[in-house]
Amino acid sequence: MCGIVGYIGKKPAYPVIINGLKKLEYRGYDSAGISVVDDKVKTYKCKGKIADLEKHIKGKDLNGVIGIGHTRWATHGEPNDTNAHPHKSQHGHFIIIHNGIIENYARLKNKLTEKGYKFNTETDTEVLANLIEHIYLKGKVSAEQAVRLALRKVIGAYGLVIICADEPEQLIAARKGSPLVIGIGEDEYFIASDATPIVEYTKSVVYLNDNNIAIVTKSELSLKTIGNNILTPKIQILDLDIGEIDKGDFEHFMLKEIFEQPRSIQDTFRGRISRERNTIHLGGLHKVMPKLVNARRIIIIGCGTSWHAALIGEYLFEEFARIPVEVEYASEFRYRNPVIHIDDVVIVISQSGETADTLAAVNQAREAGALVLGICNVAGSSIPRETQGGVYTHAGPEIGVASTKAFTAQVTVLTMMAMLIGKKRFILDEKKYEKFITELLRIPSKIEEILKNNDLYKKIAGLYVNSNNFIYLGRGYFFPVALEGALKLKEISYIHAEGYPAAEMKHGPIALIDENMPVVVIAPQDDSYEKIVSNIQEVKARGGIVIAVVNKGDKTISEIADHVFEVPSTVLALAPLLTVIPLQLLSYHIAVKRSCNVDQPRNLAKSVTVE
Ligand code: F6R
Repeated sequence: MCGIVGYIGKKPAYPVIINGLKKLEYRGYDSAGISVVDDKVKTYKCKGKIADLEKHIKGKDLNGVIGIGHTRWATHGEPNDTNAHPHKSQHGHFIIIHNGIIENYARLKNKLTEKGYKFNTETDTEVLANLIEHIYLKGKVSAEQAVRLALRKVIGAYGLVIICADEPEQLIAARKGSPLVIGIGEDEYFIASDATPIVEYTKSVVYLNDNNIAIVTKSELSLKTIGNNILTPKIQILDLDIGEIDKGDFEHFMLKEIFEQPRSIQDTFRGRISRERNTIHLGGLHKVMPKLVNARRIIIIGCGTSWHAALIGEYLFEEFARIPVEVEYASEFRYRNPVIHIDDVVIVISQSGETADTLAAVNQAREAGALVLGICNVAGSSIPRETQGGVYTHAGPEIGVASTKAFTAQVTVLTMMAMLIGKKRFILDEKKYEKFITELLRIPSKIEEILKNNDLYKKIAGLYVNSNNFIYLGRGYFFPVALEGALKLKEISYIHAEGYPAAEMKHGPIALIDENMPVVVIAPQDDSYEKIVSNIQEVKARGGIVIAVVNKGDKTISEIADHVFEVPSTVLALAPLLTVIPLQLLSYHIAVKRSCNVDQPRNLAKSVTVE
């Protein structure tokens, strides 16, 4: 959700903080603020984006080699100047930036009010700042002790960076449920909610674990638990390139990421598929393979786009491995006391590896004794660290809030897993297995071909830019693709869109169809081709507009549909990787033509670290 940056060292803090906030803006963008420290702490904040903050602070005193900055995605309190972070405690001793939610803030606030504290904002963060200050003043303890004692009273999630005005030579960072990473430079440290603002300065990082607190001066990092046990920082080397977090020549990150898919898919199977030996090797599953192959049931869990990938995983695992699969929204799974057996395997999918509900589902499934595996994109994030095995997607940093290349990378991983398990269970014979490997390796070049038709998607987007509603239909493997196409359109263009299994249309949604309703049908040739042709005819008979995604050279649908997007043919199970591409580009161009902020759609944030 929110983005956090901190710097302590020898260079001016402001440029590091503001550039870092720009890199993190995809995490939240309703308001922003910074504090810099020299002989005093100077705080500036305002509603709006980082560009608004820059205007707001132009000409102000920004001197200091220590600082913190925050870009917000509101949870408590509307996005305005006052509720923007950093928050100062009542008597000015503590200045805090916070990502997460303090769940018991109301009770803490009442107690502090009884003790004479007054509150200027509607945020839970101000409550925390005052709680720390109250303990600090009353207990006459150090800033670090006050923070640790306060955090023991807090229920909820936090990633925090704190300045104590009386001890200005240090930053205090703490984490529970909301990621924080510390970059180690030479006589300087960087703190951030993810590594993107850090990578241009250093690749040596320490990821904080839950209940860790770090006390950082310009020459030292000391790590402890909230309970005051000293820890040895585990230094890791970032596998992230600065060029990967740049838009390059593209107008938006989303467009860049759509066009990166041939490469990101290739990176996802690079070193894992051997064409010569016809093998798939997934190192992160090696130890758990016997349990996976003998699973009684696989439960795949995710949110949003990752949940759509999970649905494709259901088709893949059931077809190739013949293991029963259930797909769950993480938020539903964790709150409904699900039946989990010790011979179940739970696979959680998450681009960020930090989604709060998905992380909670991991813990719940582990407690119930299931083997829990992760499919994540962000190395070192919480889910890969909490799971017992898994496979990274290697899609590279995804900055556009709408997920594109992470989705296709997730589906690529699920495909490799299903094929591998299917082979080990003797469901998939050698010949079929070989064919799939060959076809999977061809997917990147087929996506290149689809991307060449970008002008067509743009042209068709122009025709429907003023539509108020869209329906997306697909059968089998293409039903999740329909859901994903609809989600992409909704989230970046704010057009209402629904995805349905094509056969369900007759059970209700068909009533919506009239001459103003564009219906996107994902209809490459497969076993149910005749049926989807009938569905298209049903839409046409009621005056609807059909935009169909078909196999190259398709004659039948081309004659009935208003527009067709051709994709090269492949084996059915791999076709979602191709058919989703025109839908991503259609949404993109519609959103651009509607002047929407494609990379930072309203109300959304890239990584949902609150429930
Ligand atoms: C949609 C989108 C979201 C995420 C969802 C899960 O384009 O990006 O729906 O897919 O918030 O996020 P991760 O995959 O990080 O757990």
